[in-house]
Amino acid sequence: MPKKLTTAAGCPVAHNQNVATAGKRGPQLLQDVWFLEKLAHFDREVIPERRMHAKGSAAYGTFTVTHDISQYTKAKLFAEIGKKTEIFVRFSTVAGERGAADAERDIRGFAVKFYTEQGNWDLVGNNTPVFFLRDPLKFPDLNHAVKRDPRTNLRSGKNNWDFWTSLPEALHQITIVMSDRGIPASYRHMHGFGSHTFSFINHDNQRFWVKFHFICQQGIKNLSNSEAEALIGRDRESHQQDLLTSIDNGDFPKWTLKVQVMPEADAATLAYNPFDLTKVWPHKDYPLIEVGEFELNRNPENYFAEVEQAAFNPANVVPGIGFSPDKMLQGRLFSYGDAQRYRLGVNHQHIPVNAPRCPAHSYHRDGAMRVDGNFGSTLGYEPNDQAQWAEQAEFAEPPLALDGDADHWDHREDEDYYSQPGALFRLMSAEKQTLLFENTANDLAGVPKAIQLRHLTHCHQADPAYAQGIAKLLNISTSEYT
Ligand code: HEM
Repeated sequence: MPKKLTTAAGCPVAHNQNVATAGKRGPQLLQDVWFLEKLAHFDREVIPERRMHAKGSAAYGTFTVTHDISQYTKAKLFAEIGKKTEIFVRFSTVAGERGAADAERDIRGFAVKFYTEQGNWDLVGNNTPVFFLRDPLKFPDLNHAVKRDPRTNLRSGKNNWDFWTSLPEALHQITIVMSDRGIPASYRHMHGFGSHTFSFINHDNQRFWVKFHFICQQGIKNLSNSEAEALIGRDRESHQQDLLTSIDNGDFPKWTLKVQVMPEADAATLAYNPFDLTKVWPHKDYPLIEVGEFELNRNPENYFAEVEQAAFNPANVVPGIGFSPDKMLQGRLFSYGDAQRYRLGVNHQHIPVNAPRCPAHSYHRDGAMRVDGNFGSTLGYEPNDQAQWAEQAEFAEPPLALDGDADHWDHREDEDYYSQPGALFRLMSAEKQTLLFENTANDLAGVPKAIQLRHLTHCHQADPAYAQGIAKLLNISTSEYT
């Protein structure tokens, strides 16, 4: 017996093929309330897309601890070997809109939500260990530069490179995006990184600085520009298709979680700023420590409900995991919840994909779309005479020592922008260096010469051979940028 059609209020719908009209030829009658409800709902079906990372694909999975790191963190999800935690992972491209093609040269988002017994931990990372910026004040500018031009409504190579090359600290990230890794073959074939420095707090309340790495077990696979072009010509949803099909077929992708751990005191003595998002920590100084692995094994049932309405927020951390002085991370702690209150509403944590799997007791009440009973008759204030939902002082972090005057500090003073991009360049095989030259020259082709020269000047300081390789393809002589 098929189920019967009703209105949203549960009342039977008698007519879903013909609208009600006065006479055979119309006009239509306002009393056809099912028609009004159907159109009114349809008119509101689109919610704002994420400002960046609008196009994405996601799946559920399981994280399993394989190594003991309890000396560094008291987070319960890492408490014992074999412990499993449900996760939800959303991958994304960054600059394209919700309907953009997947196989574009771009960073990929790599956002992981761990549904732990102590609340949700969101590690909202990318497939690159660094980023273009080290000051969050520039983030809206970055996005305005890489998205559409206000007049032409076209993506603009000129705007993009004008901005990138005005920020010498961006060279490390640009080098990765223009390398062979700039177009991953699929979301299953790339690593993930928390990128920022975070903190671990252990049972003795000692703090460590930590970076998170997700190492892809499928191996790295990338597309060349021409492969990507051909692919987009026949399939704009290649990443979505790949992830969906592989999980539906029982071919579950896996990543190994590794961490780099730095004792708290080291930060003061290093030659570089360990909270600078444009730099990596050398692996020889801070080797990768294996922690566990996750596999993705279940596709969402409903894309809108679970993927479009998913809200990942770097502010969501659990006891034993904390933030760091990284300015970029600090900026993100505000921006995500704020964006989600606008995009999804003030009660977005109640949407099932976002809801914690453990009890959540806050004094937040009311607000649009409060559909969970609103804590019924429980008290809405604290302190109260019932000792209801008291703060949990045992989870307070140790104090963090800071120094210096409050100011708008110039992060460009005494800075080294070039040694890490130069080292990355020298690490590449000759074949990969050639790809880097070709991809960069190709992207720079239609850009004004002054901007091309600005980029070559930066590359030259990283490694003269880096600049030469690109300059040759652009027919620019060394004397023009040195
Ligand atoms: C999405 C802001 C830097 C990774 C977003 C969103 C905002 C935002 C507002 C949309 C959130 C939503 O509507 O749900 C910022 C700001 C940044 C910054 C202000 C710097 C100051 C970064 C960095 C990374 C990153 C450094 C990676 C290391 C992501 C990812 C998403 C995202 C993966 C998509 C999350 C999802 O799948 O829903 N960002 N972002 N962002 N951002 Fe950032």
